[in-house]
Amino acid sequence: MTLLVSKSSPIVTKGRGAMGELVRTGLSLEKELLEKFDAVIHRKGYQNRSEAIRDLIREHLVHAATDENKVIVGTLTMVYDHHQPNLSAKLIEAQHAASSKVLAATHVHLDHHHCLEVVILKGRSGEVRSLADRILSLRGVKHGELTVTTTHG
Ligand code: NI
Repeated sequence: MTLLVSKSSPIVTKGRGAMGELVRTGLSLEKELLEKFDAVIHRKGYQNRSEAIRDLIREHLVHAATDENKVIVGTLTMVYDHHQPNLSAKLIEAQHAASSKVLAATHVHLDHHHCLEVVILKGRSGEVRSLADRILSLRGVKHGELTVTTTHG
């Protein structure tokens, strides 16, 4: 089944802020798909479909910027065992070697063994990702993840 959404009800809009002129568009999709989408965005707290769809588009643009090796900002979160020999020195060394890309770092002593560190990185996505991979692959780094964002969305 196909549900044609009337053009008089805006489904995708462009904010008047940084993006400028507001444009209205319509889209067609299966009723079932739309119902599932509505249920999910309702649970997430979206007030309307437009904002949910805008966020999906922005997410897509961030992925595209990453794929195209554009300048991105990354947040690398990791948990490591600071008793691992030489690990603290290696982590500091890796960050200093790429000092132009490290904007800030925060360290929290979680318990007797574990430290949590959040490093904010800026640079071409390829460089940021390879620094993150280098850090996350060090022995003693138990868990971590790089979250990427841009201002392109
Ligand atoms: Ni610590």
